Amino acid sequence: MKIFLDTADIQSIAYWAQTGIIDGVTTNPSHMSKAGGNPLSVVKEICALLPDGEISVEITEQDPEAVYNQAREIAAISDNVLVKIPCHIRYYEVINRLQLDEVPLNITLVFSLAQGLMMSKLAVDYISPFVGRLDDIKENGTELLFDLCAMRDEYDFETAILAASIRDARHFNEAIAAGVDAVTVPVNVLQEVTQHKLTDQGIEKFNADWAKLGIRKFP
Ligand code: E4P
Repeated sequence: MKIFLDTADIQSIAYWAQTGIIDGVTTNPSHMSKAGGNPLSVVKEICALLPDGEISVEITEQDPEAVYNQAREIAAISDNVLVKIPCHIRYYEVINRLQLDEVPLNITLVFSLAQGLMMSKLAVDYISPFVGRLDDIKENGTELLFDLCAMRDEYDFETAILAASIRDARHFNEAIAAGVDAVTVPVNVLQEVTQHKLTDQGIEKFNADWAKLGIRKFP
C-alpha cells in the first residue's frame, strides 16, 4: 500500500522523503495556497525531492477545454506528476480524452460508489474518496472505502483506490483494513501513526538497563 503526504509544505516533504516511507505527495489548491510562493516552483521542488514518487497536482481552471489544456501542461512539468481533476460530470469527457492521451490521472472529490464506478470504467490511475468530508456530513467515509475496494475486486478494475481526507489515526487504520491501494495522510496524522508510547517507554528502559553495565563503547 502506498503512502502519500497530503501537503505542499516543502520542509515536511523534505523530512519525510528522506525517511523512505512516503511514495509521493498529493497537493490541492488549498495546500498550494497555504504553502505560498510560485505554484510552479513549488511543484518542481516537490518533484525534485521525490524523483521516484508520484506527485498529484490539481487543475485550477474550470471550463472543460481549459481544464484539458491545463492538465496537459501540468503533466508536462515532470514525468512523476499525476493530474488531479474533480469527479464532476462536466469533466467526464475531458477525463476520458486525457486518459486516452495517457495522462496520469487522480480523480479527486469522490464521494459515492457510483462516482467510483464511472471513473474505474474510464480506467483512470487513481480515485480519491474523501473519508473525513463524508464523516463531516454524518455519513460513513470508511464504509465507502470498503465498498469501493469490494467493487474493485469484484469487477477487476485496475483503477487504484486512494483514501483521502484522512483526519486521524482511526481513518488511517480503517483505510488499511479496507484494503485501499494508497492513502494520503496529513503531516500531523503521519506523525501520530508512526509513534507509540510503548516504543518510547521501551527505548527508555533499554537505555537505562544498558547504562547499568557502565560500558561506553559497543561493539
Ligand atoms: C486529497 O487529495 C485532498 O488533498 C485531501 O485529502 C483533502 O482533505 P481534507 O478534507 O482534510 O481537506
